[in-house]
This record gives sequence, structure tokens and C-alpha cells, in this order.
Amino acid sequence: MKIYEAKDYREMSRKAANILSAQIILKPDCVLGLATGSTPIGTYDQLVDWYKKGDLDFAEVKTVNLDEYRGLARDNDQSYYYFMHSHLFDRVNIKPENTNVPDGMAEDPAAECERYEALIQSLGGVDIQLLGIGHNGHIGFNEPGTSFAKETHCVDLTQRTIEANKRFFPSVDDVPKQAISMGIKTIMRAKKILLIASGEEKADIVAKAFFGPVVPEVPASILQMHDDVVVVADSAALSKIPR
Ligand code: PGA
Repeated sequence: MKIYEAKDYREMSRKAANILSAQIILKPDCVLGLATGSTPIGTYDQLVDWYKKGDLDFAEVKTVNLDEYRGLARDNDQSYYYFMHSHLFDRVNIKPENTNVPDGMAEDPAAECERYEALIQSLGGVDIQLLGIGHNGHIGFNEPGTSFAKETHCVDLTQRTIEANKRFFPSVDDVPKQAISMGIKTIMRAKKILLIASGEEKADIVAKAFFGPVVPEVPASILQMHDDVVVVADSAALSKIPR
């Protein structure tokens, strides 16, 4: 595992965007695994900037997103489909048909999970997977205690996650209770993984995930077993790692 320290959020975003750009330049038809949340917004902004300057071309790029809420339509501004379109897809020349987010409105979620897993395989797998990390060590919607052996699956959100997300919805009853998420096994199959983290509130979990034991209680700790992981984090998020 390589850890790159950035001085702040802006520099973290720039370094992460640099790594993703290198992938796109080296393999223009690469498969990017993408993530939502507040952390990657600056990375996407930087990619858009370089695209606008003519330095990046998304014409052949394919993407697969980590997860999606169940029960939110694509045009709901809290859906991850909506997030990806507003922060990246609608701002660059990626072909909409080359972008993939699990279908949160699928009537048969088990079939949707199977379809999504097969889709990732049919694209030849993920070349580089971008990840954020939750305060409890979750990656995607794989909450503490999730088996490392899971592929794309339907998840019941924990009460804590529902509470944490209620600020985005009119009331707690409107927060989705389930999601579809790539599993840990799906994530671990990516050829390369880029995890980004920013801010002091991530310092404890970053230290635990990358310097503590590999246990399902800290889902991101499994990344210690992947042979090509890059962590790009700012000094605040790295403030508790052993030096
Ligand atoms: P955040 O979420 O980027 O909004 O902190 C990270 C995550 O939960 O994966």
C-alpha cells in the first residue's frame, strides 16, 4: 500500500485526479469504479477542469458506481445517479450509455445485483476503483460486520447511517432503508484501488483501517490485502497513523 500525504483537501483532490487522469491517458477505454459522498467532489471538479482545458478525453471511458439507494428515482436529487450526473457525467464528454449505477428502482433487487455483478465482469473488471471511507470504516455500503466474501448485494442501512443521512431528506421517514452495493469481494477484484480521505474526523478510522488488524468490523481494513492500493489523504486525516 502506498500512502500519499496532501496538505489539504484541495491538494488531495488534485493528486487523486492526477492518478485517475493517468489511468485514462494510459488506457482511454478504461473502466473507472466511482464513488459518491462529499470527499470525491473536489476530485471530480478537477477532472472536469482538465477536460475543459482539453487535457482529458472521456469519449471511450466506462464507469461503474459502487452503490445506489433503493427506492429513489434517478431524478431524485439524493440518488447517486443524480449525484454522478451533476458532479461529473453531465460535465464531460462521457457517453451516457458507458456509465453505470445500480438501478435502485429495480423491482427484483436480487436480479439487479446479479445483473450488476455480471456487467462489471463483462466490461473486463474495474481498472481503478475510487473509494471514500466512512467514519466506521465502511466502503460502499458495506457496513461493519459485512462478510468479505460478498459480491454486489442488497443492504439494510444501519440506524446510524439512516440518522446520518436524514439531513438530506424532508424527514427521517423519507430516508431510504436499503441500498444496492458492490460487495467487498467485488471491490477487491479491482485491479487498482484509490482511497481518498480528508479531515481530522477521518483520522481515527484511517489509522485503524490501514494500521490495525484486518477484521470485518473495519471493512476498509481488507484493503491491506490488496496488492495495488493507493491512499491519498490530507495531513489531518493522516494525523493519527504511526510514524
Ligand atoms: P464522505 O463519505 O465522503 O461523505 O465522508 C465517505 C463514505 O461514507 O464512504
